[in-house]
Amino acid sequence: MEEMTKTDKRLVDKATAALRQAYAPYSEFRVGAALLTEDGEIVTGCNVENASYGLTNCAERTAIFKAVSDGVRKFTSIAIVVDTTEGVGAPCGACRQVLNEFNADMRVIMANTAGDYKISSVSELLPDSFGANYLENREIVRPE
Ligand code: THU
Repeated sequence: MEEMTKTDKRLVDKATAALRQAYAPYSEFRVGAALLTEDGEIVTGCNVENASYGLTNCAERTAIFKAVSDGVRKFTSIAIVVDTTEGVGAPCGACRQVLNEFNADMRVIMANTAGDYKISSVSELLPDSFGANYLENREIVRPE
């Protein structure tokens, strides 16, 4: 299994700190995320739930939206931490798509507070993805 680098560990620590801010009164499933920007900055996020359940925002998207709204769009890694021993912080499908928008090669460190982890990449987690290339320079072929 691939070892965590020093930077990965730092990101996991930051994601763990962000997890403490999770607003998850309904699921009690707390998630923290920490994004590493190309400039070496770290932007964190947590899940934010709502009584209207479908309005919940995941930790990963909170981090991405915080960064983008502050003018940062280039990310090299993300750490995602959950406070359970059942699995590691695997991003949901919607979050995989949002991460893919900014960098398909992004390193993804999925971890839990018990110390388990798995390292992957967005393209590995979301193969054959739909992206901007589908919308650019396209030739429309109308069916008969
Ligand atoms: N959650 C995340 O924050 N990230 C994911 O990738 C998976 C799910 C949150 C949403 C909700 O608040 C709770 O976990 C249970 O689904």
